[in-house]
Amino acid sequence: MQIVTVAKGPFEGQKPGTSGLRKKTRVFMEPGYLECFVQSVFNAIGGAKGKSFVVGGDGRYYNREAIQSILKMAAANGASHVIVGEGGLLSTPAVSNLIRQRGTDGGLVLSASHNPGGVDADFGIKYNIANGGPAPEHITAGIFEQTQSITSYATLEAGDVDLGTPGTSVLGDMTVEIVDPVADYLALMEKLFDFDRIAALFSSGFTMRFDAMHAVTGPYARAVLEERLGAPAGTVVNAVPSEDFGGGHPDPNPVWARDLMQEMMSDTAPDFGAASDGDGDRNMIVGRGIYVTPSDSLAVLAANAHLAPGYSAGLAGVARSMPTSGASDRVAEKLGIGSFETPTGWKFFGNLLDAGKVTLCGEESAGTGSDHVREKDGLWAVLLWLNILAVTERPVAQMLQDHWSEFGRNYYSRHDYEAVPAEAAQAVMDRVAGNLTGLPGTTSAGQTVSAADSFSYHDPVDGSVSENQGLRISFKDGGRAVLRLSGTGTEGATLRVYLEQYAGPDDDHGLDPEAALADVRAALLDITDLENLIGRTEPDVRT
Ligand code: G1P
Ligand code: ZN
Repeated sequence: MQIVTVAKGPFEGQKPGTSGLRKKTRVFMEPGYLECFVQSVFNAIGGAKGKSFVVGGDGRYYNREAIQSILKMAAANGASHVIVGEGGLLSTPAVSNLIRQRGTDGGLVLSASHNPGGVDADFGIKYNIANGGPAPEHITAGIFEQTQSITSYATLEAGDVDLGTPGTSVLGDMTVEIVDPVADYLALMEKLFDFDRIAALFSSGFTMRFDAMHAVTGPYARAVLEERLGAPAGTVVNAVPSEDFGGGHPDPNPVWARDLMQEMMSDTAPDFGAASDGDGDRNMIVGRGIYVTPSDSLAVLAANAHLAPGYSAGLAGVARSMPTSGASDRVAEKLGIGSFETPTGWKFFGNLLDAGKVTLCGEESAGTGSDHVREKDGLWAVLLWLNILAVTERPVAQMLQDHWSEFGRNYYSRHDYEAVPAEAAQAVMDRVAGNLTGLPGTTSAGQTVSAADSFSYHDPVDGSVSENQGLRISFKDGGRAVLRLSGTGTEGATLRVYLEQYAGPDDDHGLDPEAALADVRAALLDITDLENLIGRTEPDVRT
């Protein structure tokens, strides 16, 4: 064992409240940087001695090097066993599943999710706990604290482990087990869904395109959709994970998954389209000629999940992040089950899932999941949709129309202003936060504010309180605007504006979303003075 002293500090850790440590790849490549974070994790969890972990990543640049460092450090810190995906690959939901199936003490996920990869792009690392979910705030706070005083880390002087061959080897006193990244995940999906029925759907001529965006879900989608369910070869595109995701943003939304969107809106569109992100936890759902917002997707899945074997007993409840539209609340109300509004970030769902209060949960940012793991799960969402479509035999567009006729439609759009100078973004937030009680009333844009607050979450399971989780402004007539600063950007600040407008079951549901949201947007711009304060008139991304 070798103790390496680090020359500079303090290092940056995972700030409490953020979903992992994300930085430019070159920062992670600085001597000792990744190592200090990993040592801080081990220190914060009371040491690694005798513990077992799962380690894997989304295959981005530096993935394999990082895994080699982590293995040597785990061995030097006394860990007993580490499970690694073959080639260093594991999707985030597959890590979550392996932690749970194999009962390890935790896991490390190497990914910056949907951020671009490459030596000049982004890298990230995240610690997950024994329930398979992201570390909760008391642990991330401990990790951060460790990073502020860390001066050395332990590693083993040893050769690299062969990540390319399944099987078990030893590293010091620790065993390293290389596993097929897909096998256990596929087994779990087979338990939840009616694979025979989905296979019959494909053999009846149902067509699909799955865009893996050159990221980690390629091997998973090929194994599940093409090899196991019989979808024709070529159903999955961009299926080979590459270190820079083919030079793109592996972010499944209409902007970054443009090719898929174009195909789905064309005359030759397949019946169903889907995409997933860098590490496989996000999903995008598209029908022939129609995009399904993640908020609507959660609501449709909640209303129909009982059609899949894994959910045939019904749902315990549904949770959504605060900025996600209220569409799923209406389903929960009708089903007579609990509905929960949590802060942004998957970790807040963990307690609700562990306590059996909810079965499904989702975020507007293309994350949907259930109690089968403790992460959001892109391919799982796609399979649940497929199972539902196989049973109902209705096109996606019809599913949505029927849903809106029953529950009403929550028009929805998120506007992101990226790489904004931090002070300017903060000025927008401060201006609104400083005047919350003054807001109710009519804006000069003609909308009436009915309520405004800064969202605080009281966790119903452990009683913890998370304050300042975004600013909510509700308008009379079912409009809502939410403002928050992103916690995952790596350049300046990203200001997110979430717009929503409810139209009841009997309304016309055929408006263009941006048109349906024009009044809410005008009122929000009026209230925030955003365009002046940040010097922009258009968002960088609308999703
Ligand atoms: C974003 C999403 C959020 C998601 C997180 C991690 O965070 O908005 O829903 O949980 O990525 O995937 P943000 O950048 O908004 O803080
Ligand atoms: Zn992700």
